[in-house]
Amino acid sequence: MTGAFGKMALPAAALLFAATALSAGAGQAAPTQAAPAQTLPPAATMTPGERLFRTKCAICHAARGMGTIMIAKRLGPDHGELAKRSDLDPGYITAIVRGGLMSMPPFTRVDITDAELKQVATWLTRNNPPAAAQ
Ligand code: HEC
Repeated sequence: MTGAFGKMALPAAALLFAATALSAGAGQAAPTQAAPAQTLPPAATMTPGERLFRTKCAICHAARGMGTIMIAKRLGPDHGELAKRSDLDPGYITAIVRGGLMSMPPFTRVDITDAELKQVATWLTRNNPPAAAQ
């Protein structure tokens, strides 16, 4: 008895659910697509260096990333986020990325090519004062 009922109940419930979902949708106008909160620039406007930073580094170096937290502990809170720094040297960035630093693993040329690393370093030093840029 319960077996037969069980077999019947599931499709009936599924139909009921489908009908409810359909009728709920039918009465409403198509929901207007709310614009997503724009916190990041769209990919198209990013430089290659910024795009690479977001794919290869931001997992640790985003606002609340582990790297950001560790650097803030060592150098102070206004130094935590690499993307906001204006005191990084391209040679220093390259040395850290290739050699690693404490919990930051070294990146091989397979992980990030020399050309890509140069683009990341260029982007991370974009706000440097002119004298410190090179
Ligand atoms: C797996 C996590 C992780 C990834 C991925 C990562 N880092 Fe790091 N990075 C760290 C950590 C952790 C530190 C801080 C080490 C410390 O100070 O204790 C750090 C430190 C640094 C520093 C030193 C900053 C300073 O002022 O001394 C630079 C520069 C840096 N990372 C660049 C990069 C770049 C560029 C990438 C991407 C190519 C990258 N990192 C990817 C974890 C990471």
